[in-house]
Amino acid sequence: MAYYFEEPSHTFGEYLLVPGYSSADCIPANVNLKTPVVKFRRGEESPLSMNIPMVSAVMQSVSNDTMAIALAKEGGISFIYGSQTIERQADMIRRVKSYKAGFVTSDSNIKPDQSLQDVVDLKARTGHSTVAVTADGSPNGKLLGIITSRDFRINKVDPAAKVRDYMTRFDDLIVGQDGITLSEANELIWAHKLNSLPIIGKSGNLVSMVFRKDYASHEEHPLELLDSRQRYVVGAGINTRDYMERVPALIEAGADVFCLDSSEGFSEWQKRALHDIHKNFGDKVKVGAGNVVDKEGFLFLAENGADFVKVGIGGGSICITREQKGIGRGQATATIEVAKARDEYYEKTGVYIPVCSDGGIVHDYHVTLALAMGADFVMLGRYFARFDESPTNKLIVNGSYVKEYWGEGSNRARNWQRYDLGGAKKMAFEEGVDSYVPYAGSLHDNVGMTLSKIRHTMCNCGVLSIAELQKNAKITLVSQASIAEGSSHDVVVRNTSIRAE
Ligand code: IMP
Repeated sequence: MAYYFEEPSHTFGEYLLVPGYSSADCIPANVNLKTPVVKFRRGEESPLSMNIPMVSAVMQSVSNDTMAIALAKEGGISFIYGSQTIERQADMIRRVKSYKAGFVTSDSNIKPDQSLQDVVDLKARTGHSTVAVTADGSPNGKLLGIITSRDFRINKVDPAAKVRDYMTRFDDLIVGQDGITLSEANELIWAHKLNSLPIIGKSGNLVSMVFRKDYASHEEHPLELLDSRQRYVVGAGINTRDYMERVPALIEAGADVFCLDSSEGFSEWQKRALHDIHKNFGDKVKVGAGNVVDKEGFLFLAENGADFVKVGIGGGSICITREQKGIGRGQATATIEVAKARDEYYEKTGVYIPVCSDGGIVHDYHVTLALAMGADFVMLGRYFARFDESPTNKLIVNGSYVKEYWGEGSNRARNWQRYDLGGAKKMAFEEGVDSYVPYAGSLHDNVGMTLSKIRHTMCNCGVLSIAELQKNAKITLVSQASIAEGSSHDVVVRNTSIRAE
């Protein structure tokens, strides 16, 4: 006889948190959101942690190198999508790893025999008023000087005059040597009252520029997530078919952690991939697996070496898996059951396997709920797709700005491997849609707001860490009527642009 789960499965919108006692120390500034990403033994620390409990989804419309850099600045990790060639994915990883916060590859360069008019035109194109003068005009050519829009007034000079006669010459420049740290560069900037500092290599070639204004923005990111060599941490999505070629190429490019990206992970394919990867590339290579939605699925992946386990089938905003195939489970119920299995497994073996709740997060408080239910971090697609840093087009639809957002199982992404169950399968149906999401601005501003809400809610619950939240949270199911009660009701909401005097 088929197995029946006794209770209906639920999703985040059906739950609320009940406050706990908040002491005077329990203030948002004291909340620590550090969380483990990969498994560790009792008494040890996870070899990879994040400073915030958020990762961006393994999706073409979400996680490229731009997203990865922006999210690592805030303390989280992007899993760069694997539904592209190995070379392109490795290039994206390389771009994240070679990006040095505060050190900018100059995109405004000119040759000494070009004209002042060329400088003006370049500024109009790039928006940058500081131009590096290099022997061949390239970003890494021999540095000969710097010219800025403060060095001449175009209406008072001959526009055909040569750059070399107006630039600050190399001998009069303050420069930093390659290898200098950002704080050392900043010291030079302040000591010499500079707006920019060129960084040069041994042969005098330009390596990068540090700008005064960028250092300030760097300081805005106290939680940035760096590896042991001060590079941003980045993850990569992989599949169960070409991992023997993809994984070594991505390790070479610098990927810090992998995620087997599949709509359903309770399969022999994931078992084989986990074994092969660990056997061939060593246990230092960290691989998350999934997705599963119950205890049995969790134990299967745990026993086959998953470094973290991802939970969720059918809850994603662009997902139509439940309609198409009738498989899945309410995201809250799935998270609760898998996290409980994780705790029992830890009790029994002393090995803690972080759990990631993936998909279906709509409101910021859903993140807090997922954590309270036992997740160590959440994976978000729709949320990140709305920001400037996502890889998709920003368009105007019905008079409002939107960004494109499509599922990996849509005809647009054609990531059929994600739904692959072996054999020479020809995809016969889609499991995702192609959609728009409202444009929401910069990742920094939005993540800042989300984290602020999470910290406040945790203080309401009387806890200062995710581990305490998982242990002490009080969670209640709510009725349909009390969900209506939770929104503004029985009032006519005023247009907020009309302010009381
Ligand atoms: P969201 O945060 O609710 O938008 O959900 C994102 C998650 O949906 C991803 O991390 C994937 O697990 C899942 N997903 C991505 N593309 C598809 C698809 O085409 N069909 C079903 N699920 C998808």
